[in-house]
Amino acid sequence: MKHLLSITDLDKKELTSLIDFATQIKANPALYQDKLSDKIIATLFFEPSTRTRLSFESAALRVGAKLIGFADASTSSTQKGETLEDTIKIVSGLADLIVMRHPASGAAKRAAAVSKVPVINAGDGSGEHPNQAMLDIFTIKENKKTLENLNIAFVGDLKNGRTVHSLSLGMAHFNPNYYFISPPSLAVPAEIKQALNLNKIKFSELTDWQKIAPQIDVLYMTRVQKERFNDVAEYESVKDAYILNANSARLFKSTCIFMHPLPRVTEISAEVDADPRAIYFDQARNGLWLRMALLISMKY
Ligand code: CP
Repeated sequence: MKHLLSITDLDKKELTSLIDFATQIKANPALYQDKLSDKIIATLFFEPSTRTRLSFESAALRVGAKLIGFADASTSSTQKGETLEDTIKIVSGLADLIVMRHPASGAAKRAAAVSKVPVINAGDGSGEHPNQAMLDIFTIKENKKTLENLNIAFVGDLKNGRTVHSLSLGMAHFNPNYYFISPPSLAVPAEIKQALNLNKIKFSELTDWQKIAPQIDVLYMTRVQKERFNDVAEYESVKDAYILNANSARLFKSTCIFMHPLPRVTEISAEVDADPRAIYFDQARNGLWLRMALLISMKY
């Protein structure tokens, strides 16, 4: 692929091939250590990150690539007023691929429009986070042994949660049944629902999980995205709407898996970490293998 801006840039076959490739890499990572030894990868993070930036950088190093970039845009000439487009024109003359995170929805598309090299969207505001969706799908396949016909509950900030947008579009290839559980003010955006309707995906919108919990195969918790709120009081009113703790976890069946893109704040209590259904740290670790597969698969 030339750029990865949205999970919809991949069809079902491309997505499943990538996941199969990540599975092969996870089984024997050393086989791939020189695959990109002639490449320089730029990681441009205009917004904070722990997992995505560090796992892309670790993945790049593990396939032999070299790295340039910044983890804090205040150390770049963005601070002096340089536009995103000018920054990308410069960096795309220095690197073979750009991995970019930015607070503005649509920023990755703007970057791709002026870049001479492939751009991977590592999260654009409340837009998408396609490589997170890929690692989420990889993790679902690894744990459920299938991607088909799953009941998936997305819980929390579905308006601003870009991982939910990408994952719900990506899993749409596999005949899912979705439950979107959020306060009304944090409901999943209309454009995501339109896309799901076009693909005849079954979904319902709820404000609590009591009734549907026993039938859920994948519980995908999300953080309420404080940084996207203009009004702190509004954030405070919804931030603890859903809490997975030892008590609420009992509502879900023994074969349900508990996922979260992380970071978490209060929405999953630490006491749940020891529950065998809690796979969110394995999920984050899977980002490494998936990103090695993705970096190798890009068209340079
Ligand atoms: N899941 C995720 O995007 O985490 P970071 O914000 O730490 O990169």
